[in-house]
Amino acid sequence: MTRNEVRNCSRHALLGKAIRALLLSTMLAAPVVSAGADEIKPLRLCADPTNLPFSSDDPGKPGLYLEIGQAVAQKLGRPVSTTWYKSYFGKRTVRETLLSKQCDAMVGLPLVDDFMGPAVIFSKPIAHEGYALIGAKDRKLTGIDDLRGLRVAVQYQSTPQNLLALRDEIRKVTVLSPDEGMTALEQGKVDVAFIWAPVAGWLNKTAYNDKYQLVPTEGAGLLWETAIGFAKASGALRDEVDGVLPSLQSDISALFAKYGVPNGAAIKFGQANQAAQAKEPVTVGQVTSDKPVQTAAAGGGDVKAGRELFNGTCAHCHGPDAVQAERKIDLRLLKKRYADDMESTYWKTVHDGRPAKGMPAWKDVYSDDELKNVYSYLLTVQGASD
Ligand code: HEC
Repeated sequence: MTRNEVRNCSRHALLGKAIRALLLSTMLAAPVVSAGADEIKPLRLCADPTNLPFSSDDPGKPGLYLEIGQAVAQKLGRPVSTTWYKSYFGKRTVRETLLSKQCDAMVGLPLVDDFMGPAVIFSKPIAHEGYALIGAKDRKLTGIDDLRGLRVAVQYQSTPQNLLALRDEIRKVTVLSPDEGMTALEQGKVDVAFIWAPVAGWLNKTAYNDKYQLVPTEGAGLLWETAIGFAKASGALRDEVDGVLPSLQSDISALFAKYGVPNGAAIKFGQANQAAQAKEPVTVGQVTSDKPVQTAAAGGGDVKAGRELFNGTCAHCHGPDAVQAERKIDLRLLKKRYADDMESTYWKTVHDGRPAKGMPAWKDVYSDDELKNVYSYLLTVQGASD
């Protein structure tokens, strides 16, 4: 989950194809209301259709957060309806769904002081989310010193990576996702994985038959509380939800266990370095660099806007400012790799994605103008890795 903000977005850019498509689809999906005055309105939840263990549009496994939302709605005596929205964009997602009245609540927002300012209000905390150590069940994992001399998988640009960067006696192996971390562990390429716990726990349960132990860690940027978020105007609903949450504690715990997501006691890890002490949890895709870039048009688009979109959305996988050690997804090599076909390859890949390889399709998410801005930005970083 990225929590990056695309800063300084013009209203213009925000009102792209994505929102129009979203508005249209929710309008079409909305039930025909034959409004009786005391008709019970569904509790509308915004959720990502492909974000297990948290949410999915597969009715067989709706995911932890959706099921918590369903349990809350049931207590309130209301049915649930879901507005699907891809959550690659973090705060932008919240702005375009919850704050645009597309839904009443979002389960699982990070309960940090200034997540979105006063625009978003929260229920009582419902869970903890963060990083965990994953290793063989007989391995001693009680603190950072137990990692001495071991090979440890850390996610690119994550708090664990920052934290271990200072420890020469621990061999870091950078991975791009929790899935990749679990694979490295399973293949014996690392001894321990220090990765995002919810996904690791879910994979441990569903793909690895509970083979590994999971030890949640605690410390700056390693663990934070999550809650149910509402728009500021929904104070009454928030209070109602807070009223039923205590009676749902055991159901909620059972749901955590069902999805293999740890929510228990965590081991304390020492202070992380500067970057990891950011108030907001540092997650994969956190963009820290604020290097000025040229803003003159190249390739016909707005380089600055393109860079912002890139860092808000694409950097999650391709690295902030396209700095990426993994050659296969190093977009600074596009020119070298494709020469005259660079532009056509870009458009084909970005429009249709390469779903089997993990590259999403963006044509229904961003307008061609927006994607052209990204292309113009990418032109400015070609060859930068050589
Ligand atoms: C969820 C991860 C993810 C996100 C987010 C993502 N990509 Fe990708 N992208 C990939 C992967 C993985 C590949 C490599 C696919 C392959 O192996 O062929 C890729 C490939 C590409 C390529 C082709 C690279 C080449 O050398 O052939 C381009 C261009 C690209 N992405 C652009 C973008 C842009 C622009 C965005 C943001 C709008 C974006 N990607 C967001 C995962 C992602």
